Amino acid sequence: MPSKDPLDADRIRDGLKTKRIGRQVIVLATVSSTNDTAAEYAGDPKNDGLVILAEEQASGRGRAGNRWCGGKGQSVLCSIVLTNESLDAELLSLTAAVAAAEAIGETARIKWPNDIMLNGKKAAGILLESKQTENGKAYIIGIGINCHQKDFPAELASTATSIDIEMQTFCDRITVTKRLIASIEHWLEEATKSGEMILNRWRELSTLLGQRITVIHDGRDFTGNCVGIDPDAGLILQLDSGTLGFFPANQTTVGK
Ligand code: BTN
Repeated sequence: MPSKDPLDADRIRDGLKTKRIGRQVIVLATVSSTNDTAAEYAGDPKNDGLVILAEEQASGRGRAGNRWCGGKGQSVLCSIVLTNESLDAELLSLTAAVAAAEAIGETARIKWPNDIMLNGKKAAGILLESKQTENGKAYIIGIGINCHQKDFPAELASTATSIDIEMQTFCDRITVTKRLIASIEHWLEEATKSGEMILNRWRELSTLLGQRITVIHDGRDFTGNCVGIDPDAGLILQLDSGTLGFFPANQTTVGK
């Protein structure tokens, strides 16, 4: 059945006020992973800000080697090429999470480090990758937003959701994509002026700050109150043992 809201590069670009992100938008039908397609463009500085979208991914991937599934025409599957970026990976990742949350809507929240939640279930995720090119290091921000899914495979049913399920509506993927592009550009600019700007917005949207949580790090559980986030040190816990614990995003999982 044809999609009710097919992605369309001209409609996405129409009225977009951004100067960097989305100057070029490419919409594809089926790709292995939009991050792989984006990586092919990452060596040319002219492609800074390029947005690659696909209706379907045959081998979409998530963090920690997980698969990212979606169903044709059901999601915003997006990768953004940054060939000229001064922010480091941690801040970029938080920036993408903030932008994805804002694109989804006011009720979206961020579960550390960059899962986007609606009513306690995951509606979107970020996969930041980099590529060394002859022109320097390029970043690819991969963002997957569940839009029209009505149900999920059994193993995800209790943890995953979509905008349509939670908002009880049929969202328009073009509108979501436009908001995503505008928000990424805005927060990249703010974060470049001051990392604190993006951290403060991330904190406002965070579900973990102030919560008592358990994280798994180096195969061990650590429990305490979440008192902060630091772009380098990661999640900061006031541990039950009395000390402060610092848990970098790439080596830590938040437990149940
Ligand atoms: C996560 O595990 O939470 C990250 C999911 C990231 C999925 C997006 S979909 C667009 C881009 N292409 C991919 O293969 N992955 C990212």
